[in-house]
Amino acid sequence: MGALIEGKGLTKSFGGLTALKGVDFHLDEGEIIGLIGPNGAGKTTLFNLVSGVFHPDSGKLYFNSKNITILKPFEICRLGIARTFQIVRPFLKMSCFENTLVGIIGRNDKNGGKEERKDEVRTLLKFVGLGNREQTLAKDLTLIEKKRLEMARALATKPKVLLLDEVLAGLNPSEILQALELIEVIRTQLKMTVFWIEHVMGAIMKASDRIIVLDQGEKIKEGKAEEIVSDLKVIEAYLGESDA
Ligand SMILES: Nc1ncnc2c1ncn2[C@@H]1O[C@H](COP(=O)(O)OP(=O)(O)O)[C@@H](O)[C@H]1O
Ligand SMILES: [Mg+2]
Repeated sequence: MGALIEGKGLTKSFGGLTALKGVDFHLDEGEIIGLIGPNGAGKTTLFNLVSGVFHPDSGKLYFNSKNITILKPFEICRLGIARTFQIVRPFLKMSCFENTLVGIIGRNDKNGGKEERKDEVRTLLKFVGLGNREQTLAKDLTLIEKKRLEMARALATKPKVLLLDEVLAGLNPSEILQALELIEVIRTQLKMTVFWIEHVMGAIMKASDRIIVLDQGEKIKEGKAEEIVSDLKVIEAYLGESDA
């Protein structure tokens, strides 16, 4: 069995700035893989390539050995790759219920009637801890609730792979613990592969099977948490960060 997702030689520039330089990576089925690196390292850009928001200037992307390099976001979503955004962006004037329903309706499977879809929305909202917020408008949610809603929207598409971009940012320690439990449940109960970007080091080190480190657009290290924390190159990359 090959990798579930594989990227080869991914390069992406914006004007004169090279955000990613020849990055190779892979995700195996059922893994939780952390993506770390200082601000501007290219983490979100890698997510943008995997989710089809941008296409690489060179390099290839495969999902289940299928070349997905130049597919559009909705095509990639239908194949089973869903994501959240670093800047949360639910439909603010819609309720949590409606926001989640959008993810279900966007799916390719036409089975399931109106009542089944409603049940599914309720189950998902309960799952992410928004069971008591069904009719609340997204704009009235707290930050952690908005992030939970983003997860519900992504999960509603029934993905095989879930990409999470800094879902812990701005949360307090007990909220971080709750979010980590949710990520673990997503893997064990929903059998999804999770690729997540996180700035909260302790959390991502603890919860990931494997970690990939980007610095200035290049993959500088990959391995288990123990190998990453003791790596000099990784430490230097972070020491160079102005807000470290
Ligand atoms: N759409 C874009 N247009 C121009 N520059 C971008 C764009 N997206 C990212 N960049 C630049 O690419 C570099 C990597 O950004 P990003 O992938 O967002 O980093 P990270 O998520 O690791 O903080 C940064 O210098 C950023 O300013
Ligand atoms: Mg980012």
